Amino acid sequence: MDLPAFYRGRRLRRSAAMRDIVRETIVRPEDLMMLYFVVETDDVTFRKPIDSMPGQFQLSLDELEKQVAAAVANGLRSCMLFGIPATKDPVASAAYDDNGIVQKAVRRLKDRFPELVVVTDVCLCEYTSHGHCGLLTQGDTKGLVQNDATLDLLAKTAVSHARAGADMVAPSDMMDGRVLAIRTALDEAGFIDVPIMSYAVKFASSFYGPFRDAAESAPSHGDRRTYQMDPANAREAMREAAADIEEGADIIMVKPAMPYLDLVRAVRDSFDVPVAAYQVSGEYSMIKAAAINGWIDEKAVMLESLTAIKRAGAELIMTYFAEDFLKLQGK
Ligand code: PBG
Repeated sequence: MDLPAFYRGRRLRRSAAMRDIVRETIVRPEDLMMLYFVVETDDVTFRKPIDSMPGQFQLSLDELEKQVAAAVANGLRSCMLFGIPATKDPVASAAYDDNGIVQKAVRRLKDRFPELVVVTDVCLCEYTSHGHCGLLTQGDTKGLVQNDATLDLLAKTAVSHARAGADMVAPSDMMDGRVLAIRTALDEAGFIDVPIMSYAVKFASSFYGPFRDAAESAPSHGDRRTYQMDPANAREAMREAAADIEEGADIIMVKPAMPYLDLVRAVRDSFDVPVAAYQVSGEYSMIKAAAINGWIDEKAVMLESLTAIKRAGAELIMTYFAEDFLKLQGK
């Protein structure tokens, strides 16, 4: 057969070593941020499996410290904390209490692991009795959170986290203007060096289902569609990212990750700030569930998913697989 020359891509795929030397994307341990759920409880041994997230737990402070110690020994560089308070009320008092569970956890972790980058999720949904991410008007039936009144509480929460020693705060509430409010409050309180990682491009996603079990934060009525974004909108995502950068965000996050890789890429190409992507609870649980059934190879799918998120342009990946990934590194 006498064919004209054609592209022979297979030449560079012939052996593992050949593939290794031309690989474009490599997930590094420091690319991954682990997520932890810490519970306010007197039971120091509290360690409750989260049914909808196999392998993840709600942890007491002591159990958190133990688990983080093992992860740090395996190379963990950063983590983000979610708190589950003992009491909730309509104004989320426990969120901005200097003795709240997240504040305690930050102090504990920074004391024991000064090098670990400890980030806090700044939101009110775990702390409000109604489960919405901000203040509601009395008699609300639709979950129409009051934007500007909520900003004060978010700013108070962020300052309280910074006072406890948080290295970075990550607002996930999707109120308008919250990056500006938090930046201003942090600066006024003397925390000019504490960066803000904004959940700027956060969709009203059904992939958060398992998280709401884990964090006990499902809204008691209505849903989050009046503040989180419509999954159908990409141009709006760019407006959100631009607004948050303008207000002072240091890192922009896209969430969820895998179903929104187009936006990870678009944000990466349009803005010169670090981009984070959050592989959310539902993404994690789908992989786990299929693996438990023997339908997919968990390790391989985990690595492929993380590589794909990084390839799309994320510098930083928040993932419940961070510890599992680190365990594989030594091997
Ligand atoms: C708090 C918050 C949520 C998640 C992170 N921060 C839940 C929500 O917005 O309903 C979801 C994370 C996940 O699914 O893993 N607002």
